[in-house]
Amino acid sequence: MEARDRASAERTRSLIERGLHAPATFRASLLEVPALDRDTWLDVVLGPDELCDDGHALPRGCVPYLPCAVDALLRVVDQAPVAATDVFVDLGSGTGRALSFVHLLTGATAIGVEIQPELVRAARARVARLRLPRVTTLEGDATSVTGAARAGNVFFLYCPFSGERLARVLCDLERLARERPLRVCAVDLPLPQLSWLVMEPKGWGDLCIFRSSGAA
Ligand SMILES: C[S@@+](CC[C@H](N)C(=O)[O-])C[C@H]1O[C@@H](n2cnc3c(N)ncnc32)[C@H](O)[C@@H]1O
Repeated sequence: MEARDRASAERTRSLIERGLHAPATFRASLLEVPALDRDTWLDVVLGPDELCDDGHALPRGCVPYLPCAVDALLRVVDQAPVAATDVFVDLGSGTGRALSFVHLLTGATAIGVEIQPELVRAARARVARLRLPRVTTLEGDATSVTGAARAGNVFFLYCPFSGERLARVLCDLERLARERPLRVCAVDLPLPQLSWLVMEPKGWGDLCIFRSSGAA
């Protein structure tokens, strides 16, 4: 990354830590950075992921931590789309990198659910350092959408699991969709065809966006 972009990341980080950030300035700074350098830029802004080995808490068959690329997250925010009034929920949220990014870019409340306690600790330390009170990580199994995560209306899955586990989450989301419209954004994760979940016809590469039908 060029020195100019590193300086922009450090400036952005300092603004965030002092509570002086705004979604529009965050977006403008991000878009000035060449697309290939945006992940590095974000890592300087948020502080790098404290990568730890995926531990015993990750159930067999679940996918270990791998951060979603900024390019895909930008498509999620723009195409879902995510606004300041939304509650964005990342099911399998790792160190909270995607959560913090979406919050900073949109102003949305962001809630993550993560099963690995070490990643939950890293996520909470990050938001405490950056002072982002509207970014929260819940420790638990994201195969059931419970507690604060039920407040969500935009759900994001970057392939945390598939098969039976995914089917269980989709059952919970179907129940929620009877109360209010939901958007479900899936990266690198094919979802089964379900009558209540309508896929946006336009494709965005590895990202598929679905809207619920049938809210009261
Ligand atoms: C591919 S990573 C995605 C991380 C994050 N969503 C992002 O985009 O940067 C998948 C994450 O899901 C978590 N995970 C896997 N199975 C889970 C489960 N049953 N409940 C909660 N989290 C889970 C993993 O620990 C890992 O952090």
